[in-house]
Amino acid sequence: MTTATDDLSRSTSDTLYLQIAERLARSIRSGTLARGARIPSVRELARQQGVSPSTAVQAYRALEDARLIEARPRSGYFVAARPARLPEPEPSAPPASSLAVDVSSLAEQVLKLAMSPDHISFGAVCPSADLFQQERIRRAVSRAAQRHRASLCTYPVGPGHLDLRRAIARHALRMGCQLEPHQLVVTNSCLESISLCLRAVTRPGDVVALESPTHFSFLEILESLHLRALEIPTHPRTGLSLDALQLAFDTQPVKAVLAVPTLSNPLGSSMTLADRRRLAQMCGQQGIPLVEDVIYNDLAEQEDKRRAVKAFDSSGHVMICGSFSKTVAPGLRLGWLEAGRWSTEVQRLKAVQSGAHTELLEHAMADVLTQPGQESAFRQMRATVAARMDAARHLIAESFPKGTRVTDPAGGFILWVELPGGLDSMVLSQACLERRICIAPGTMFSATDRFRHCIRLGFGGRWDETQQAALREVGAIARRLLGG
Ligand SMILES: Cc1ncc(COP(=O)(O)O)c(C=O)c1O
Repeated sequence: MTTATDDLSRSTSDTLYLQIAERLARSIRSGTLARGARIPSVRELARQQGVSPSTAVQAYRALEDARLIEARPRSGYFVAARPARLPEPEPSAPPASSLAVDVSSLAEQVLKLAMSPDHISFGAVCPSADLFQQERIRRAVSRAAQRHRASLCTYPVGPGHLDLRRAIARHALRMGCQLEPHQLVVTNSCLESISLCLRAVTRPGDVVALESPTHFSFLEILESLHLRALEIPTHPRTGLSLDALQLAFDTQPVKAVLAVPTLSNPLGSSMTLADRRRLAQMCGQQGIPLVEDVIYNDLAEQEDKRRAVKAFDSSGHVMICGSFSKTVAPGLRLGWLEAGRWSTEVQRLKAVQSGAHTELLEHAMADVLTQPGQESAFRQMRATVAARMDAARHLIAESFPKGTRVTDPAGGFILWVELPGGLDSMVLSQACLERRICIAPGTMFSATDRFRHCIRLGFGGRWDETQQAALREVGAIARRLLGG
């Protein structure tokens, strides 16, 4: 059992290694430490900074996770060479008025193929089993079955077992959030959490502001609740334009904002800390709820990008929604939410909609989350997907048509690709399907038709020579369609 004092002393040493990592990161980004240059050994760094070798190791690990440095066997540490620099897509410029949504049939079709074992799939963003610590999760499930023998034969009631809600509250501290376990609701998934929050604060016909492009499942939720989508200009690196959002607040009847401030889908954008603070303030001042999706926060390479907007919420206008589908154990199907000032209404909706969950799995998740190994599981996952994303960006630079633009997200496993020459992603997608390769055409990610020249590629699935050859083939098909 850890105490508040343990947490405090841990957070002081955490801050120290992060401070060192941050200083070095600034020197690398500004070019003071050149790409490819050797940097001090762990021992030298510890001496220079007056810290223990283990703090120096932690600082270097954080920089490795951020792909800013690399260890070369028997040679030491070097500033990493950044993969081939491709131009990034322009910030989006959606129309200033809201639209009814109709995307579900295309999304359904693409998802079906994306999950088919006959296809090589870049179409979905479901992480494959090898990215998870399967044995640890299996052990937690069997431990739960041993320790809570009666739970399968006991009718569960309420918004989630308190052990899991406590574990989630502790987990949320990593995002800078102090959540009260009794205010948390356990759900089936992040999308269920989002749907419940939107239902609590909107009525059919209301306007919801969201990123542009946005996750197609969000559009499907809006469609099913008869809500209108107001797409807000979004920068591929820094996310929602808050000036544009303020203008929308001033000129449109916005009833809620739905955003993914960390590693948005499909852009992979992550808001700055200053913007996170400002967004919380804006929503508080205007009395407009923000439904914040934090599903990818644990995958962000930099600590400050893992901090939720909820951490800056002093008025209860942020409804935070998460799940463990992408980062801990997709098969346990567990999500969560804390709905701020709408807590009572959301708890009521949840009880009416689907009631309580399988307590056995809640116990298993609480166990997994509170094990000391979970932090290193996140680190390992971040490092694996970072290496994969570098390789994918290299392949895109080599094989896609000249003029292709691609995002460079600070974590996660999604790339957004802007195709040159007005290439129609629906045509490219069809041509790829003939080769049994599934990609997600840009039209799925907006209520408008503005992203027809874009595709989303997901790299959470298997990643070996077959997938790499398939990615090259997508590039070759795109070149051929452009007559190159
Ligand atoms: C941003 C975002 N939120 C939510 C989800 C879905 O999560 P869950 O399966 O927990 O509903 C996804 C899946 O792609 C996603 O990208």
